[in-house]
Amino acid sequence: MYKGSGVVQRIQRTRLEQIDTLLVVGSGKGGVGKSTVSVNLAVALAHQGLRVGLLDGDAYGPSVPMMLGVRKRTTSKGAEAVLPLAERQELPREKKLQPLVRYGVKIMSVGFFIGEEQAVAPMPDVLGMLIRQLLHSVDWGALDYLLIDLPPGTSEPQATLCREIHLDGAILVTTPQDIARIDTAKALAMFQQSRVPVLGIVQNMDGFLCPHCGGQVDIFPRSQEARSALDTLPVLGRIPLDPAAVVSGDKGHPVIISLPDSPVAQAFMLAGQQVVSLIHQRQNPPSQNPGASEGIIEEKTEHDRED
Ligand SMILES: Nc1ncnc2c1ncn2[C@@H]1O[C@H](COP(=O)(O)OP(=O)(O)OP(=O)(O)O)[C@@H](O)[C@H]1O
Ligand SMILES: [Mg+2]
Repeated sequence: MYKGSGVVQRIQRTRLEQIDTLLVVGSGKGGVGKSTVSVNLAVALAHQGLRVGLLDGDAYGPSVPMMLGVRKRTTSKGAEAVLPLAERQELPREKKLQPLVRYGVKIMSVGFFIGEEQAVAPMPDVLGMLIRQLLHSVDWGALDYLLIDLPPGTSEPQATLCREIHLDGAILVTTPQDIARIDTAKALAMFQQSRVPVLGIVQNMDGFLCPHCGGQVDIFPRSQEARSALDTLPVLGRIPLDPAAVVSGDKGHPVIISLPDSPVAQAFMLAGQQVVSLIHQRQNPPSQNPGASEGIIEEKTEHDRED
């Protein structure tokens, strides 16, 4: 645990060798659009010519394969693989799992190892290990960005990832109403306590654009809860509510592909640009004194940590 200012604590987190920027997409709240944001953001980044991967870390309801129109039975060798969860060595390349590639994005899902229709998901702490192992066992190659779509919540697998893996940033997703913002603020606190930089927030379902008159309708009442901590975060995007986003997701063609000129798709493209710009600023700070105020020494290890 971090012990406060002035106390330097040694945190040992694994940094993935070939991944420039590792981001998690999360929210304390379920159903706010984390997977929709992850998928469309990943494709938006790939559209910018970046090398992008997407790891679906939601074993309770893996949505990424469906939203991208991939199924394990047809395409993934990963389905038959046995993951050595206790094994902390880097696998030789020939033993690594090949990700699927869709719309220029390399994809892997924990769902491939569980079964889409299976009712029983792994214990939460096992899920953390599974995600960690997939980060190492998939042949991602060199990537500019790897996004992890997290399940809802603020306990596991989030805690395992924050503790063991060097995360370059967290993207929070929320919808406008109180109940979502309250849970998203919990996720913000969790990342801050774990010293994971929160890159910004995506405001999803932020108004509905009437297809008839073009006016904006606020479907969800604006939050009356202060939750001012959320208001201090950079807004990465305001994504309107659009039924086309649902249909496109269900059919395996994210809206950014199926309706690239729609306001929703445009908002995702802008969010992608925002992410790249913020990461660039973080990686090239104006003053050359990185981490001085953090009181943390991050140890960069090439492979898994040794306990
Ligand atoms: N901007 C939007 N407009 C319309 N529908 C949307 C939008 N964003 C998400 N949805 C729809 O809302 C539903 C939930 O979205 P999604 O699965 O991305 O949420 P989630 O936060 O990942 O959920 P979970 O917590 O279950 O993982 C989906 O049917 C999705 O298509
Ligand atoms: Mg999801």
